[in-house]
Amino acid sequence: MKYNFDKIINRHGTNAMSAEGFREYLFGDNPEIKCACADEDLVSMWIADMDFAIAPEILNAIKQRLDQQILGYTQLSGDSYTQAFLNWTKSRYQFDFNPEHLVNSSGIVPALFDLLKYLCKPDEKVLIHTPSYGFFKHAADGNNLELVCSALKSDNGYYRIDFEDFEKKAQDTKVTVFILCNPHNPTGRVWSIEELTRLATICFDNNITIIADEIHCDLLRKGQTFTPLAALFPESDKIVTCMAASKTFNLADLMFANLIIPHDELRDKWQQEHFPIVNPLSLVGVQAAYEKGGNWLDELTDYLDNNFDYLDKYLKQNLPKVVFQISQSTYLAWVDISAYLGKEINLTEFFAMNAGVLLEGGNMFVGNADGCIRLNLACPLAKLKDGLEKINQAIKDYK
Ligand SMILES: Cc1ncc(COP(=O)(O)O)c(C=O)c1O
Repeated sequence: MKYNFDKIINRHGTNAMSAEGFREYLFGDNPEIKCACADEDLVSMWIADMDFAIAPEILNAIKQRLDQQILGYTQLSGDSYTQAFLNWTKSRYQFDFNPEHLVNSSGIVPALFDLLKYLCKPDEKVLIHTPSYGFFKHAADGNNLELVCSALKSDNGYYRIDFEDFEKKAQDTKVTVFILCNPHNPTGRVWSIEELTRLATICFDNNITIIADEIHCDLLRKGQTFTPLAALFPESDKIVTCMAASKTFNLADLMFANLIIPHDELRDKWQQEHFPIVNPLSLVGVQAAYEKGGNWLDELTDYLDNNFDYLDKYLKQNLPKVVFQISQSTYLAWVDISAYLGKEINLTEFFAMNAGVLLEGGNMFVGNADGCIRLNLACPLAKLKDGLEKINQAIKDYK
């Protein structure tokens, strides 16, 4: 391997949410929760960023930009960034979008808040699948919009869409937006072309706009293929595609995401409120990622595959009653441990207090998630082993 994913990097002293900023997010109005050990000794497997150093190709691009010594107002202009991103989507996913439809956002979460504001009238509703990434709910709540949830069905840990339920909910004429998560956080499913086509057809038949959050799409297990929803419906202007280098290359707080908005009026609205002024370090970092990060990503993918294999074997040997399937994408593992701890316990608090492990329990995923935990496997294997031992011990002690 050219890149070292085993290296442990201390994240303390950097304001990292993973290491230091977790209390409010994880424990909410109960921030006095006493963890099993000092903060420095907690094993953090919660927030979706990685413990790996970013690719040297990206670091060098940022360093070179710093050497230029001026960080003044920077505009996303010309076509060199667009071309880099377009080459990425074309070479990886045969997705050839119209460059004029590309706009920039400081993140997909802020984009969700604004898109719902533009797309929905006050009495309209937003459809999602559960379990769900929490910010889908927060974006609906933030706009005072009712959330309609269609629960995914677990078939021994393999999650499927309940199309009958989804269609029934889509037929509510007040539902005007569906937020698709593909690949799906937290289950890791990569929806197939058949599933995507069926979902989109239901939405189009019911005049529903789809926001396709595809932020995790580059993080595929070997053998998996990802199809952007918009690639299946190139003529449609009812799909907003959200992609970013942030998960893929561990650049979350460069605050730089891509939105592809084919609907002219919606894009105009976006552009009226969002000037294409960007952080100059983000621009060169993200562009370098798309232009030069492919090899790093390929090695990362191998490393993550190995971590998933390790987890799978560990669970089979030590906690055989858990329900778990290796995620098809993402670096997040979704594990149903209800056979050991039931469905009533707040698992986020339980593992912080009893194992010294920070993870996200089912309570953080909107619904249909009791008894499950989400583990972030984007860490050196040594850390994963440590976390699993601690989780296993806490479960054993619970008896
Ligand atoms: C599905 C999904 N969308 C969006 C985000 C965050 O996006 P951003 O950092 O661009 O706001 C995450 C982060 O975990 C996510 O899982």
